[in-house]
This record gives sequence, C-alpha cells and structure tokens, in this order.
Amino acid sequence: MKVIEKAYYSPVGKKVAAKAGLSEPPRLRRGRDYPRGPVVLAAPAGSTLVAEALELLGRTSESPVLDTGGDKAPGYGDRIGAVVLDATGLTDLTQLEELRQVLRPAMRAIEGSGRVIIVGSSPEGDWERLALTQALDGINRTVAKELRKGATSNLVYVDPDVTAVDLLPTLAFLLEGRSAFVDGQAWTVRAAGLEEADTVGGPAERPLAGLTIAVTGAARGIGEAIARTLARDGAEIIAIDIPPAGEALANVANDIGGVALQLDITAPDAGERIAALVAGRGGSLHGIVHNAGVTRDKMLANLDQKKWAQVLDINLAAQLRINKVLLDPATQGGLVDGGRIVGVSSMVGFGGNAGQTNYAASKAGVIGLVRAMAPDLAARGITINAVAPGFIETEMTQLIPFVKREVMRRTNSLDQGGKPVDVAETIGYFLDPRAAGVTGQVIRVCGQNLMGQ
Ligand SMILES: NC(=O)c1ccc[n+]([C@@H]2O[C@H](COP(=O)([O-])OP(=O)(O)OC[C@H]3O[C@@H](n4cnc5c(N)ncnc54)[C@H](O)[C@@H]3O)[C@@H](O)[C@H]2O)c1
Repeated sequence: MKVIEKAYYSPVGKKVAAKAGLSEPPRLRRGRDYPRGPVVLAAPAGSTLVAEALELLGRTSESPVLDTGGDKAPGYGDRIGAVVLDATGLTDLTQLEELRQVLRPAMRAIEGSGRVIIVGSSPEGDWERLALTQALDGINRTVAKELRKGATSNLVYVDPDVTAVDLLPTLAFLLEGRSAFVDGQAWTVRAAGLEEADTVGGPAERPLAGLTIAVTGAARGIGEAIARTLARDGAEIIAIDIPPAGEALANVANDIGGVALQLDITAPDAGERIAALVAGRGGSLHGIVHNAGVTRDKMLANLDQKKWAQVLDINLAAQLRINKVLLDPATQGGLVDGGRIVGVSSMVGFGGNAGQTNYAASKAGVIGLVRAMAPDLAARGITINAVAPGFIETEMTQLIPFVKREVMRRTNSLDQGGKPVDVAETIGYFLDPRAAGVTGQVIRVCGQNLMGQ
C-alpha cells in the first residue's frame, strides 16, 4: 500500500523520521512466504502433536543442534527462521527452565520476520498446571516485546482432543507472512474432528474456492482489502456498502469478479436482502464478514444521543440483527451449516479510549457477541470469531496529524502501523474451512500495541 511506503521509506519520510530520532521500521514478511531459515521444533516433554502438524505441512523440523556447552554463549550456529515450542506435555513448573534453554539462544539467532510459536495445553488440571499454563502467556508476551526486526511471538492453547489436522491451519497462518502484524497474542484451538484428507496436502493456495462470502463496508479501506484478499483465496464475494459509496463499491466488485450490493446494514430488512440476493443466484452463503463501522468521536461530557445511537447501531446492533436472520434455518440464502461469521472489533474494545465511549462500547460488544454465540453455533459447525485491529494505515488514519500519528504507529512491538491486508489475512484464516476448530476467538491485529494489553 502506497501510504505506508510513502510514510516510512520515501526520502522525505526517512529525513523527517531521522530528525525526530525515530528509526526506520523493519519491513515485514507478508503473504504466503515461510521463514527463510529452518523451522526448529522443541518438544521438552516429548509431545508429538506439533511434530505431526509440521509434517502435514511438509515442514518437518530441520532442528539445528542447539549448542549449550563450552565457554561461549549457547547458540544455533546459523540464523533460524522459527522456533516452535511444543509445551503441551508440560506438567510441573520446573520444566519452564527447558523453555528458557531453547528460547534464550533463539532471541539472537532468529531472522528478521522470524517466528516464535508456543503451543500449550488449555488451562485445565491442578493448581500447578494452571499456573504453568498462565506462565506461558507471560513468556509469550515478553518474548514478543524483546524480539527485533519484525520477528513475532504468539501462543496457541490447544484443547485436550486437538489433533495435528486441527492445528494445521493455525500453524500455517503463524509461520507464513499472513500473520505479519499479529504479535504477542494467545488464542485457543479446539478439536474439530477433521480428517487428514481435509488438509489436501498442506496449505492450499485457494482455500476458499467455491465459497460465497459477504463482506460489509467493502468499498474502501480495510473492507476493500478483505474483499480482495478473500477473492485471491478463491471466494466469490458479495461486496456490500452504502449507496453513496456505490461507484467505489462497483469498482471493487468488478475488479474481483464479485457482486455489489448497495445496502445500509442498519436497514431493518438488511439480513433478508443479503439472503435474497444469495437465493436469487441459486447459491449458498458460506460466510459473512461484519466489517462496516464508523466513529463519531466526542468526550462523553459532550456526546449526544444521535452520535451514541448511530455508532452502536452500525457497529453492533446491525450485526446481531443480520446474524439472526442469516442463522434462521427458514431463511432461503441464509448461512449454511459449517459456515463462518467474522466480526471486526478494535483494540479500543479492549483498552477503551478517551473520546470514544460509543465506539468502545460497540467494539467491546462485538467481542461479547463472539464469545456468547460461539458455543450456541457449535452444533451446526458454524464458527464465529473477530479481529481487533490496532493502528492500521488507511485513509482515515492518514488524516491524523504527523506527530500524533508517528506516536500511535510506534507504540507497538513492530514499530509501525499495520496494513489493511494484515487484518484481511487474519480474517481469511478464520474463514478457512480447515479452521473449524477456531471459534469464539478474538485476535488482535495490532503488532502488540500497548493499548489494553
Ligand atoms: N483503520 C483502523 O486503524 C481501524 C482500527 C480498528 C478497527 N477498525 C475497524 O475496521 C473497520 C473498517 O475500518 P476502515 O478504517 O476501513 O474504515 P473506513 O471508514 O475506511 O471504511 C468503512 C466502510 O464501511 C462503510 N459503511 C459505513 N456505514 C455503513 C452502513 N451503515 N452500511 C454499510 N456500509 C457502511 C463505509 O461506507 C466505508 O466504505 C471498521 O469496523 C473499523 O471500526 C479500523
């Protein structure tokens, strides 16, 4: 995206940043590329779950030998691309020392945009097990803060019956450049009972082929990136936006071979109109991404009823109304069993923000909706998740005055704003049919922004 290139890497951008004492941010590895260096697997307690998942991915660990002896500091010799730590077998606190032994040398050896991925068991068991599980979170968050040059650390908790097949799409997402701006996060993978055949030999290039997915707010910004990214992955897109954005919407839809639907999502019959379009085309709806959102910022002391209601209605209540219609089995063109719902929250939904009570309420509400609906939809194989973007480089954030913008960009572990495609890639991960075990989760796409962490 031009904006970020211009801001950071143009001669003017570089000069201004240097004058302000700011270093040039690292360029992040994006897209489907894997790390360049070897993927090192460490399984201190002998669990084989991650080893099996890496094998399915065709990434059997190349484990360079860890040199822990002698006078010199321990190390891996050469640069490594990623360390994947299988901590699922850990049972007592003393075993955390083994994690230190593996991670300590990795902190220097890991390449730019490299990865630390910790896989632990979901919190369960006695006091010691629960403390240990939580300790992994502290390690992950801190490693993420200490890593440099665009390298990230994330933690995946797995439920007891999770198989390598269930873990596969998550491991692929984390190793690939698609997770470039996801850092210091933790989420859970549940057992989904998929067969090995469902993996179709590893990370499919077009995992959404044959699926129809509706994206709201698709005319510009993050929504446009979502529509383009999902179309790249094979989906047919129903691109939705308000009538005044009709021309931009039509351009996006034409570009990606999708269908444009001019619709205000707050219309009382919005859900019915989406379903009618799907039914009219004789197809099925496999997913919906609730991206449309607005801000109407005012300090609470000055916030009137109109600005309050507008934000809550567009950002939250409309989603709930549309979901109800699309989930009703009687709705022709509604969401199929095994379908996907993705909400777009915000880090403000976690941290709050002065001047944004209405927005924070709506975005926290999206998180609540995801957590509340996930268990109820499980029986139908429908997943519901959300992304919570941090500072993303869009036309909207480009309007923030330079100094404030620079500060906002850099108050995260990757020293830069994210790109709309980073949010889109995480949504693509949720929509992947192989990610059936990922539900009720909210992933922050924020480079480990300090707000609300
Ligand atoms: N840009 C960021 O840094 C950032 C950070 C956190 C969360 N978000 C969230 O990401 C989403 C997209 O943000 P963006 O920066 O691309 O915003 P944007 O303003 O550029 O795009 C929002 C789109 O939604 C559409 N829209 C608004 N109201 C609508 C309605 N009633 N019906 C249908 N469409 C409607 C708009 O016309 C527009 O095309 C929003 O939900 C926003 O809250 C953005």
